[in-house]
Amino acid sequence: MNFLNEIAQRFPDAISLAAGRPFEGFFDPADVHRYFDVYREHLTTRLGGDEAAVRQTLLQYGRTKGIIHELIAEHLRVDEGITADPQALVVTVGCQEALYLTLRALRRTDRDVLLAVTPSYVGAHGAARLADMRVLPVRESAEGIDLTDLSAQVARARAAGLNPRACYVIPDFANPSGLRLSLEARRRLLEIAAEEDLLILEDNPYGLFGDPGGPPTVKALDTTARVVYLGSFAKTGLPGARVGYVLADQRVAGTDGTLADQLAKIKSMLTVNTSPIAQAVIGGKLLAHQGSLRAANVRETAHYRANLAHVLSGLERRFGRAAGTSPDGAGGHPSGVSWNVPAGGFFLLLTVPFPAGDELLEVSAEKFRVLWTPVHHFYADAQPRNVMRLSFSHLRPEEIEEGLNRLADFIRYCCRD
Ligand SMILES: Cc1ncc(COP(=O)(O)O)c(C=O)c1O
Repeated sequence: MNFLNEIAQRFPDAISLAAGRPFEGFFDPADVHRYFDVYREHLTTRLGGDEAAVRQTLLQYGRTKGIIHELIAEHLRVDEGITADPQALVVTVGCQEALYLTLRALRRTDRDVLLAVTPSYVGAHGAARLADMRVLPVRESAEGIDLTDLSAQVARARAAGLNPRACYVIPDFANPSGLRLSLEARRRLLEIAAEEDLLILEDNPYGLFGDPGGPPTVKALDTTARVVYLGSFAKTGLPGARVGYVLADQRVAGTDGTLADQLAKIKSMLTVNTSPIAQAVIGGKLLAHQGSLRAANVRETAHYRANLAHVLSGLERRFGRAAGTSPDGAGGHPSGVSWNVPAGGFFLLLTVPFPAGDELLEVSAEKFRVLWTPVHHFYADAQPRNVMRLSFSHLRPEEIEEGLNRLADFIRYCCRD
């Protein structure tokens, strides 16, 4: 990520099909004050008008697990059909901290390992490295996860004396592939997790931008506390607030608490508590929309869907109509360029006829002023692959057009004899 940020800084006039950021066109600093005040009023009512207690809650060091846990539980009920015990929630400094806390708690000895659908989010690999936890890759498939490979990896790890603790998965519009797990795959994943005594770490920053009739989250299907649910308000709330959370309602053997209690202990030594000011802003946004971030993001959802459609039609115009479509929507193409067709989210994968690594990204930035993400970063190895991640969430239509023009020029340049 540092490398990608550094390239973006060196070529500020490059169009970035690399940054997986929310669209800034709807950001308004006035919202920060507005939402803060909504939460403050709510708190004043809740605390019976005790202004000193309100000041203390908002401005003093605070509860390690956070102050907006009840609002988040209500949001999970409204938007995701998840029944969450507010006491099992820890409000974190972004989902990134939630990932780290969870992995740090699960890693007890150096035999404890994480399985991760691969390619997968760079930050998950980074958090695992920081927690000194090995990651074993599980193959992605057209359905999002190769469940046969998951069982095989668990067996192989156990045979090698390792202890697979959990499987990390992004079931909705994965980063980087954009894939979405079917309902059937979600059910089967839960069954395998129960058979193999694994936890599932479900990371879901993009799901709310999908079709409301889409499959439920794995956590909503979970009746036996197999799923640790990782949430982020970076895309659905205000990214600058840096607020996320983890729902960890698993009982921990030998204690009278939950995994959330353990996470809170670690957090108390790491960030102490998540800024109550930032939580108040997110809490106010939740209150202003009756707990529904789906309702709060109607404009954003329309923008992301339109951008996805724009990129797909733009690719088709430049590289021809995909000839034949495989089950995951990947299409072969005479020019050797193909792409998958996600149903939503911020990303898709573009396959090109050459290994698209960091060195070519440098060429792309310098000569063509367009950025994309080499997919090997999502595999935690340095092996360039013929695939790049394209993200389109933060762009306007005219930037997508120009970005795709530059990308097509770059691909032509790489394919010249
Ligand atoms: C899959 C996934 N998980 C977690 C995060 C990090 O979320 P946050 O910004 O809340 O730390 C991201 C950010 O891009 C992501 O794509």
